[in-house]
Amino acid sequence: EKGGYEHFMLKEIYEQPSAISDTYRGRMLPDQGIIRMAGVDDNIERISNARRILIVACGTSWHAGLVAEYIFEDLARIPVEVEYASEFRYRNPIISENDVVIAISQSGETADTMAAIKLAKEKGAFVFGVCNVVGSSISRETHAGAYTHAGPEIGVASTKAFTTQITVLTLMALKLAKHKGTISNSDFRFHLQELERIPEKVKEALNSDEHIRGIADIYKNATNCLYLGRGFNFPVALEGALKLKEISYIHAEGYPAAEMKHGPIALIDEQMPVVVIATKKGHYEKVVSNIQEIKSRKGKIIAVVTHGDTEVRELADHVIEVPETMESLTPLLTTIPLQLLSYHIAVMLGKNVDQPRNLAKSVTVE
Ligand code: F6R
Repeated sequence: EKGGYEHFMLKEIYEQPSAISDTYRGRMLPDQGIIRMAGVDDNIERISNARRILIVACGTSWHAGLVAEYIFEDLARIPVEVEYASEFRYRNPIISENDVVIAISQSGETADTMAAIKLAKEKGAFVFGVCNVVGSSISRETHAGAYTHAGPEIGVASTKAFTTQITVLTLMALKLAKHKGTISNSDFRFHLQELERIPEKVKEALNSDEHIRGIADIYKNATNCLYLGRGFNFPVALEGALKLKEISYIHAEGYPAAEMKHGPIALIDEQMPVVVIATKKGHYEKVVSNIQEIKSRKGKIIAVVTHGDTEVRELADHVIEVPETMESLTPLLTTIPLQLLSYHIAVMLGKNVDQPRNLAKSVTVE
């Protein structure tokens, strides 16, 4: 059942090239420059005229929502807010018929997300669901939706659900952008072509597995770890830290790279591994100077860089390459090494990777 893999998590990490193509297959026609998503097509005016989009989710799905915030605002020019479902509902939120709520949930059973949906519906908002489990409670409670089609995710640590959620939300943002005219036809086609190449590039990123295992071996006894990223890759830093925490029980925190100087930099010493996402285009020069700041305080740098990078290579203790793609699609690639790093560390520490202590696959309590 694990298809020859030692753990479900590893199997699911390796399934991402096919999971991502399953997500866009039948929806995206790059040659014709078309995206078809029934749940969006049927409600296109309501969604594209939204005063704002409010994304509600928990955990990894919330991180996918944060990536989507960058993508929706960049492409479709609709204001987006991302909320923890649990905080949204206890805050007397301001929400009306002019708002569109997107609820993201792998399991489709998360109690806090479900409660947020019910509240949003009561206030008249249109609620769109992005779920993986077909027929799940959330998929039934929402007005419309799009499935991720990632296939069953058994490992408690979410992996392929995250990348396929980002894929669905990217398709949705592109579709809205096209409808609203906030993207040119040529840009639109270019995005589709690049998205179509992502599964191949994820495979290339997976080729670093052995190299990453070597890095895991060096840092497996760390007691703390920082993850830094900017822009589209800031949420990836949060997700990388969550993966390490939940399966290896090593304390980790994700930060926007530029926030370092406002506090966390005090933590840096020779004991501190810092994972930095430093792909080309994404505020690259700024991230390079963040890396210099960490180096001068003797922190250990593990950098995720674009294939062929030379500048960061000179500064970092370790580099992990991912293929080049357009900036907005980099999270689909930069996530991969972070998943593998936490996986290998947890295995080396003898942790129960697929069923970490204190965690359940779907959190049906509030
Ligand atoms: C992290 C993880 C959790 C879930 C969260 C939401 O690896 O698995 O943080 O992402 O409990 O679950 P869903 O997406 O099922 O609503």
